[in-house]
Amino acid sequence: MTKVSIEVLSGPDARQARMRGDVRDGLSGISKSIPPVWFYDERGSRLFDEITRLPEYYLTRAERSILEARAGEIVELSGAATLVEIGSGTSEKTRVILDAMAETGALDKVVLLDISEAALREAALQLHRCYNVPVEAVVGDLRDEFDSIPAGGSRLWVFLGSTIGNFGPVERRQLFGRFARAMGPHDRLLLGADLVKDPARLVAAYDDQAGVTAAFNLNVLEVLNGELGADFDLEGFSHRAVWNVEESRVEMRLRCAAGQEVSLPAVDMRVSLAAGEELLTEISTKFSEDGLRGELVAAGFEVDRCWFDDHDDFMVVLAGLSDPTYD
Ligand code: TRP
Repeated sequence: MTKVSIEVLSGPDARQARMRGDVRDGLSGISKSIPPVWFYDERGSRLFDEITRLPEYYLTRAERSILEARAGEIVELSGAATLVEIGSGTSEKTRVILDAMAETGALDKVVLLDISEAALREAALQLHRCYNVPVEAVVGDLRDEFDSIPAGGSRLWVFLGSTIGNFGPVERRQLFGRFARAMGPHDRLLLGADLVKDPARLVAAYDDQAGVTAAFNLNVLEVLNGELGADFDLEGFSHRAVWNVEESRVEMRLRCAAGQEVSLPAVDMRVSLAAGEELLTEISTKFSEDGLRGELVAAGFEVDRCWFDDHDDFMVVLAGLSDPTYD
């Protein structure tokens, strides 16, 4: 029977507990940060969807052009029947892969994992309607093990949108480890990653003219106000996107113009922000082909192929486990 199921691993209580822990950790040090996962409430997910269509935000178009050119090849090389999308959002680009899987008659199931329950529900229903295969949606955080992803069959795990770049080097190693532990010997990982390029273009992609990225960035404070009863005065903050050349990443920050005393009753904290102090809300690492290949190999993967768009802005990698010791 074909159906849609939604498993909520990270329900309201777990979400709150995690958010409290993150905020406590992130705001108590000298340099303050908020983990990006909290951007994606319903409004945040909608704003992000808008970002993907901005003229400055070349990433989505570049990635889609690769998938459109290579979907048949990717599907053939992977030999997969089940598509597992991690951090799926609206699953829009993934349809290119799903179309190719459906065309060969291989597609038997779709599994989606995302932190945004609203985006996930909508994507799951749409994909079910479109492909008429069972869709299992899991509301969860990619910082957890992928234990809830149903095992078996040959699966193509897709992790697109350069979400990998939103993790620092240590977190990337851990995340690749979670993929490697969850994947079977016949599974493949399809990874989309943004490449180093002219810093002006990089910064523009995260600081658009229309101010959508600024609204998206500021929304994280709205989320904390709404869900933790905090009293950030949003008017006092401005969006910044900065290229950090040493770390090869764009950093998204919220700059507090004047000093602000913020109270966060849910975590029993008061935070003093100095005039000009910046909160780090997101990093977006930009890769080189060799760098990313090296990280995958170090994590126990073997790269099948890398593809690039016409401007060499973006890269899509297909990889499997290098030493699948179990079957
Ligand atoms: N994975 C996306 C990226 O790194 C996420 C993203 C795009 C993002 N724009 C953003 C995150 C703005 C925070 C703020 O490109």
